[in-house]
Amino acid sequence: MNQAKAAFRSLFDVAGEVLVAGGVTEKPAAARAMAAAFARGELRIDDDATLPEPIRMPGRPSRPRLVHPRELPRRGFGSPAGRAAFIHAVAHIEFNAIDLACDAIYRFRDMPRAFYADWVQVADDEARHFTMLRARLQDFGHDYGDFDAHNGLWEMAEKTAHDGLARMALVPRVLEARGLDVTPGMIAKLKGLGDEETAGILEVILREEIAHVAAGSRWYRWYCERAGVEPRSRFRELLREYAGGVLHGPFNTEARLMAGFDADELQSLCDAAEAAGA
Ligand SMILES: [Fe+2]
Ligand SMILES: [Fe+2]
Repeated sequence: MNQAKAAFRSLFDVAGEVLVAGGVTEKPAAARAMAAAFARGELRIDDDATLPEPIRMPGRPSRPRLVHPRELPRRGFGSPAGRAAFIHAVAHIEFNAIDLACDAIYRFRDMPRAFYADWVQVADDEARHFTMLRARLQDFGHDYGDFDAHNGLWEMAEKTAHDGLARMALVPRVLEARGLDVTPGMIAKLKGLGDEETAGILEVILREEIAHVAAGSRWYRWYCERAGVEPRSRFRELLREYAGGVLHGPFNTEARLMAGFDADELQSLCDAAEAAGA
C-alpha cells in the first residue's frame, strides 16, 4: 500500500461514524460527506475487515420521543398541524433510512464494491430527502423532534443484522417498497390541498426510492444466487418469518416492476394479500 492510499480512511469506519452521529444536522451532513469522499475515491474498502462491533442503537437526537406505533395519533393532513405531523412522520422515515443504508455498509463485509457504491448513494439520497422535509417542516413552524415517532425501521435492521439476504428482502423490498405503494396517493392528496411544495418533495423521493428498492432487489438476488436458493419462494418464507406473512396492497405495480419485482412475483403477492384480506 503506498503512502497516499494508507492515508485514506476505511469506508466501514466512516459509515460507523454516521450511524453513531446523533445530531439532527450532524447525521445527514456526515452521510453526505461520506458520499462525497467516496465519489472522490478517498475511502478504502478493506477486504480483510474483521466483523464489526454491533451498533445496538444508532445515534439519535433526544427528540423525537420513540413510542409504540399504537400510541401515535392518527391525524388527517387537511389542517396545517396535521400536515406538519405528516411531514414529520416522513422525515422520521428518512432519518432512519440514513442509518439503514449506513448499517448495510457497516455490517455486511466482503461484498463487491458495487454493493457499497449502491448503499453510499442511498445514504446520500436519504440525507437529502430528510433535509428537504425538515426545511418544509420548518415552513410550518415545526422542527424534527416535535412529534412522537416509532422505532420500527431500526427494529427490522436489528432483526436482520445476522443475514444480508434477509436484510435486502425485508428492508428495501418490504419497508422501502411500501413507500412506493402509498406515496402516489399522498402526492395526489397534497396537490388537492394546493400544497404543491410538499407534493414536489414527495415526487423527488418517490422517483429516487424506486432506485433504492431496485438496489435491494439486485442484492437480494445476488445473495440468493450465492446461497443457491430460489428467490421468490424464499421471499415468501421471509415474509412469514419477519413480516406477518403477507404484504399489504394495493401495490404500485408500475413502480414495483421498475424496482425489480417481476410480474409473476407481484401477481403472487397480490393473490396472497387478497386471500388474507390485506
Ligand atoms: Fe428516502
Ligand atoms: Fe430509500
